[in-house]
Amino acid sequence: MSFPEIRLRRLRRSAALRGLVRETRLHVSDLVMPVFVAHEPLRNDRLPALGRHTVGGVLEEAEALLGVGVSAMLLFGVPDEKDAEGSGAWADDGVVQATLRALRSRFPELVLLTDVCLCSYTTHGHCGVIDDGEVANDPTLELLSRAAVSHAEAGADAVCPSDMMDGRVRAIRKSLDDAGFDGTAIVAYSAKYASAFYGPFREAADSTPEFGDRATYQMDPANVREALRECELDLAEGADVLMVKPALPYLDVIRAVRERFDAPLAAYSVSGEYAMVKAAAAAGFLDEQRAAVEGLTAIRRAGADIVISYWAKEAAGWL
Ligand code: PBG
Repeated sequence: MSFPEIRLRRLRRSAALRGLVRETRLHVSDLVMPVFVAHEPLRNDRLPALGRHTVGGVLEEAEALLGVGVSAMLLFGVPDEKDAEGSGAWADDGVVQATLRALRSRFPELVLLTDVCLCSYTTHGHCGVIDDGEVANDPTLELLSRAAVSHAEAGADAVCPSDMMDGRVRAIRKSLDDAGFDGTAIVAYSAKYASAFYGPFREAADSTPEFGDRATYQMDPANVREALRECELDLAEGADVLMVKPALPYLDVIRAVRERFDAPLAAYSVSGEYAMVKAAAAAGFLDEQRAAVEGLTAIRRAGADIVISYWAKEAAGWL
């Protein structure tokens, strides 16, 4: 049978009917809100979710998030001082560590994820230590592990390595276990691309590389089979959750990872994706709310379980 007996429009006739046959749902419990923490607050009027909070400000943000049903936060630290190794990343009194301690005691129900990387903490802005002008893989692993353990000590539920060094998941897993944190999960930024869409983030996190770019460690945007190899290795090294990042330009990668692996999958809808829609909406070209929900739903439809988004707090009110 075909048209005219078959008419797909029959199931689109009312909002309730469309709701019954909807294949993908976006729920607040899928969302993670990225939050930047610094010693000084910094408003961002055009991209509000990319402002910086003090520890006190994050406490307020946590209350607001829980109030609308978002129960997970991904913390990024913006330190006052940087050095060549990025030692602020594992400072016991660093902003992220202090924030974790403050949140952990007050909001036991909040899921606390932390970004583990060196780029905001190094003077040169790269995600690893520099040796002879290059980002050195193996010496970086020890430093990332220190950062991860310090986050676990301060109360993180999961650490999220975003550096793209080879072998970081194994190194971090071993360090966490040796330090007694076998219950701390690793959400690995497994397929993280060398993307132009990180622009607004680098301003918020003050993490723009001083020389060169990140193409020797982050992935080439043209590759998808390589993303599957990254995911396979991360799982073998002990990752609990895989991640694809950015999200919207990489829906095919999300789908491919979903089909190949059974592990939970996160997708990070990055700062440039948020900025594009904000800018287009400000110019009157499209409706922000509809565009945002459509994009986030598409990320779920492609196969992501967890969606990290700068709209998490606002979207909770739209769903
Ligand atoms: C740190 C890191 C970056 C992002 C998350 N963790 C920036 C980068 O790799 O340059 C980007 C997030 C975003 O753009 O929203 N390595």
